[in-house]
Amino acid sequence: MPIPLFDLTRQNDALMEELTDASTRVLRSGQFILGKEMEALEAEAAALLGAERSLAVSSGTDALLLALMAAGIGPGDEVIVPDFTFFATAGCVARTGARPVFVDICPLCFNLLPEAVEAALTERTKAILPVHLFGQSADMKSLMAIAEKAGVKVIEDCAQSIGAKHHGTATGCFGDFAAISFFPTKNLGGFGDSGLLLAKAEADFDRAKILRVHGMEPKYYHPEIGANFRMDALQAALLRVKIPHLSSYNEARRGNADHYKQTLADHSDVWLPTTTGDCPFRGECNCKDEPEARLILPFTYPHNEVIWNQFTVRIPGAGQREDFRAHLQKDGIGSEIYYPLPLSQQECFQPYKPAECPNAAKVATECVSLPIFPELREDERETVVKSILAWLG
Ligand SMILES: Cc1ncc(COP(=O)(O)O)c(C=O)c1O
Repeated sequence: MPIPLFDLTRQNDALMEELTDASTRVLRSGQFILGKEMEALEAEAAALLGAERSLAVSSGTDALLLALMAAGIGPGDEVIVPDFTFFATAGCVARTGARPVFVDICPLCFNLLPEAVEAALTERTKAILPVHLFGQSADMKSLMAIAEKAGVKVIEDCAQSIGAKHHGTATGCFGDFAAISFFPTKNLGGFGDSGLLLAKAEADFDRAKILRVHGMEPKYYHPEIGANFRMDALQAALLRVKIPHLSSYNEARRGNADHYKQTLADHSDVWLPTTTGDCPFRGECNCKDEPEARLILPFTYPHNEVIWNQFTVRIPGAGQREDFRAHLQKDGIGSEIYYPLPLSQQECFQPYKPAECPNAAKVATECVSLPIFPELREDERETVVKSILAWLG
């Protein structure tokens, strides 16, 4: 039997009765946009994350755009983003008229390098937009200190990190704003597009709430221009069914990640980078001194609680990644490349004349994500490990 990269039906099948009840409740209510279901979701999601309030929106992308709009970011401003992330992170910045400034990442944890962020600050910088890629928090302690010193805002892209923690605090609770995605393959996966916005300051939250409905306040009066960023009631009701299960989903992903690491780390061609403290590359990135390995396992900090939206390994060497993926495919194992081209190399961003980001460029040629979804069975992950060990020889 093939082992897919993810299988949404297994999770949904287990909840089918509750999901059906929730949809029936909404269908009978006659209330399909915003409303009570959405407000209940907002309260439950805020409580889950330890945030004071949250705003349910139409997608993770829209949560990012709304955060940037509510932060007052626009033409003439610069926003620092990681070079290695999903397109939306920087696409939203550009859509406000501001300039995305692409900054390099750590090649081991895949997140923004604080030193590089500091070096990219200018008098036009209005915000830093860290992404907690693949479910591991960026170095928020350092990034918040940099932002505070520079007097710029922080907007966290938590699309892939709902429930992840950094020094015990949930991602999304550090910055002025945070954007969460409920895209179906995320750890809290919805049934279509939807997302959530967190805003620390009440005034920011209130402004975002008005911008969510075309900048309308009061009804049919528009002090500013917003858009339709509303969430459907059906979506909210279905997501509410999954919220109580999120921690067990995250736990199951963690179990899968631990298993991959434990079973692969001892192979002589595998490198599992470790540290007992802060970034081992602080100050001087020594990725040039990486030991020779055919497979590099993902690196996690001891102070981070990772939720493993993806389990991403690196396969260095010309043609090796393609060979590895072909081998997995032959064994019926799904994999994906998140992401094959850094944002600074995307055609649409060339007018911004982005600086080179060598770590992001290297990682983009080597990364491969493996099946990690919570319902992956023990025998399936065993098959994945066996297949990888056979490829390594
Ligand atoms: C890092 C990152 N940012 C933003 C988004 C956008 O979220 P959505 O797909 O819900 O619009 C995603 C989702 O794919 C993402 O992975």
